[in-house]
Order: sequence, then C-alpha cells, then structure tokens
Amino acid sequence: MNIPTFDSAGTREATAVSSGRLELDNAALEAAKRSLEKGAVTPSYGPWREDIIRLLNDALATELVCTLRYKRHYFTAKGLASPKIAEEFLVHANEETAHGDMIAERIVQLGGEPDFAPTTLTSRSHADYDESLDLQAMIRANLIAERVAIEAYGQMIKLIGDKDSTTRRILESILAQEQEHADELSDWLTP
Ligand SMILES: [Fe+2]
Ligand SMILES: [Fe+2]
Repeated sequence: MNIPTFDSAGTREATAVSSGRLELDNAALEAAKRSLEKGAVTPSYGPWREDIIRLLNDALATELVCTLRYKRHYFTAKGLASPKIAEEFLVHANEETAHGDMIAERIVQLGGEPDFAPTTLTSRSHADYDESLDLQAMIRANLIAERVAIEAYGQMIKLIGDKDSTTRRILESILAQEQEHADELSDWLTP
C-alpha cells in the first residue's frame, strides 16, 4: 500500500519540475539586499553553514598538524643522508600551510571563526603528528597522514556535493595536491 503512494508522490514532484520554467526566486533576491551582516552568505546557501564550518575547522586542524609534522621532519632530516627528501618535506610543509590559509579564509567568508587553538589541535586533526628520527619512518608517517587527508577530503567533497560549490572547489584543489604528496612519498618508500 505504501509503495504506490510513494511512487505517485515522486511522480508528482518530477512532473512539477519538468513542467516548470527555470526562474529565479525573486523573494530571495530581495532578501539578499538585507541581512548585510551575513556577508557572502545569501538565502540560497541552505541550512548547512554550521556543519560545513565545523568540517572546515577539522580540516584546518589537520593542515596545521601536517605543517608541524613536516617542519619537524624537515629540520630533523636535514642532517641525514637525503637532503633532497628533507627539502621536499619543507615544500610539503609550506603547501599544507597554504591549504590551511585557504580553509581559514573560507571559514571567515561563511561567517565562522577559524580555530587555531593549539591545545586542541591534535584531537581535532584527522592526521597525526610524528617524531620519527629515521628517514624511512618519517616518509611512512607522512604517507599515512596524506592518505588520511585524501580520505577525509574525498568524504567532505561527497558530503558537500552541490550544497556549497565554492567550498567544494577549494577542497578539490587541496585534494589534488594531497594526492601529489602521497604519490611522491610512496615513490620514496622502500618496501
Ligand atoms: Fe594539505
Ligand atoms: Fe599533503
């Protein structure tokens, strides 16, 4: 009994969409002229603002922990046998910092507050800090962290979908760079 009811409701909705014209919501355009304190967030944004800010703050914590881990590895590995890899840790550190800056900027655009609080960084970060002294252990720890970041950004991008195309594009560009990082690290990892 329930299945036909569900089908007919679905059909009605589809018909309304297919017979409707593509028109903007004028009431929302008028509403956009007000609530100026909301900055870039206008009525079509949807109810996801706080959830997206929370996801972005967790990603910001991850980027900050990744920056610290790569810096630690850069200065520790400088004296070891592979200065080229140490230099690459520094390149990654700076790219993770840039990712964090992009995320913090987006949080502010959404009317949120970027959370740089050092006391809660490691508990909020998806990836771990690492104090290895051995180059291969560093490479492995970084590869694990990059894979966690890739998984987290992939999930975020799916969750956000078309709810916020600007945030999605930012995350997609960061994800592409995390994949490059993981690819480089896996080339250096000796089996
Ligand atoms: Fe990153
Ligand atoms: Fe990375």
